[in-house]
Amino acid sequence: MKLHSILHEVAEQPWVGTAGDKLQPAVLKAFEAGGEAGREIKNALHGTWLGHPLHPAITDVPIGAWTAAAVLDLLERSGSRKYAPGADAAVAVGLAGAVGAAVTGLTDWTGTTKEKRRMGLVHGMMNLGATALYTASLFLRKRKSTRTQAVCLSMLGYGMVSVSAYIGGHLVYRNQIGVDHTATADTYPEDFVAVLPENDLKEKAMRCVKAGEVAVLLAKQGGEIFALAHTCSHLGGPLSEGDLLSGGKVRCPWHGSVFSLSSGDVVDGPATEPQPRLEVRTRNGQIEVRLPKGES
Ligand code: FES
Repeated sequence: MKLHSILHEVAEQPWVGTAGDKLQPAVLKAFEAGGEAGREIKNALHGTWLGHPLHPAITDVPIGAWTAAAVLDLLERSGSRKYAPGADAAVAVGLAGAVGAAVTGLTDWTGTTKEKRRMGLVHGMMNLGATALYTASLFLRKRKSTRTQAVCLSMLGYGMVSVSAYIGGHLVYRNQIGVDHTATADTYPEDFVAVLPENDLKEKAMRCVKAGEVAVLLAKQGGEIFALAHTCSHLGGPLSEGDLLSGGKVRCPWHGSVFSLSSGDVVDGPATEPQPRLEVRTRNGQIEVRLPKGES
């Protein structure tokens, strides 16, 4: 049986779904309870300020540090005792990084549903298990008499975090979490193309139209017409089915990301990548759009 099939079996267990049903709303409520500060912290943890998800960058710290610890432990076991302090320090650095990885990962997990949420929970539980093993290892490393057990626990933790890293790859490359869903092979029109009669777009309304190969969101607010890529950059939600917010913003119907209509910038996560913006003009009663010059 392949590793992927085993993990899939685990993710399909009813208790995984039940745990997700309880934990996800609790985490979202905790952010909501923080008001404006909670909103800003959530955005920061998603990585909206970075333009990319923050979680995968932080996971490099525990994985790198614990890889170094495994190498140094093996050197120490082979008789070079001078490597022991370095191994212990690497375990501690990995634990500090694991806290950051856990917090950012949990935040990103609040923007997942169904199979992605289940697999994400398994990923998180495995990381928690590995962190617990490394924590116990760090304490046992303090005494010479328990050093062998400490190294064994670290190796066990390394195996667990390796499987968890495999799941992380599955979540990105198979489930497409964290990738920009507007990065399509379809090409945006470089010259103005007519997409809708002007009269068919009412004030405070949104429409999904086609511009060449791509779906485009048209929105009208304050007499001004805006155009963005229709597919949400987070996980592909249909923006025209979301909410048109005051102040020139649109909220995705799937996980609540908010984008500026004028620039496409992310106002609120979980999205971290902006929505491609299109130039708009009206000619002969038609709304026309094109990719802004220099943004192909
Ligand atoms: S698809 Fe998740 S916020 Fe749009």
